[in-house]
Amino acid sequence: MDFKQHIASIPGFPKEGIIFRDVTPLLEDKDAFKACIDDLAAHAKDLGVDVVVGPESRGFIFGCPVALELECGFVPIRKPGKLPRETVSKKYDLEYGSNEIFMHKDSIKPGMKVLIVDDLLATGGTVEAVAALIEEMGGEVVGMEFVIELEELKATEKLSKYNIYSQVKY
Ligand code: PRP
Ligand code: HPA
Repeated sequence: MDFKQHIASIPGFPKEGIIFRDVTPLLEDKDAFKACIDDLAAHAKDLGVDVVVGPESRGFIFGCPVALELECGFVPIRKPGKLPRETVSKKYDLEYGSNEIFMHKDSIKPGMKVLIVDDLLATGGTVEAVAALIEEMGGEVVGMEFVIELEELKATEKLSKYNIYSQVKY
């Protein structure tokens, strides 16, 4: 399926000079959404995935159905102040300022094979921080999957040690 035809491009959102790639039309189309999840799961089926990890919030939308299809569990990566039990966290830099992401400390056990799923790869800052958290807990990142990759930001260069699959590239 040509997933690109189900992604809207909005110039000037959220600010001038940016073309926002919007996955909501894909989600609204049951056949496109199903084909998208089937394709992400098919690309990961031989990786021996134990658990899928997805960053808040759009990583939940795609990560959870992929986890169900791979017959494994799902671990959410959350923004500050959301997880109730003991957490591990990682700060990372944005263009202006910084973000911090959190994961429950006992979610990833040593030796677990982990697949990270998110809607979009831009600078790669988010997924790099997620991978660092997983690895600090002894997990192995066996794959990273995205619906969209913004190629001009060259995130795959700094993530070159990882196995990355993106369905649509701009
Ligand atoms: C977006 C997107 C990715 C991240 C990609 O999430 O869903 O998680 O940014 O950017 P990066 O590769 O430069 O790190 P956002 O933080 O906007 O949160 P949201 O899903 O809650 O909208
Ligand atoms: N679309 C959606 N999310 C994003 C984008 C985009 O173009 N760039 C960074 N996060």
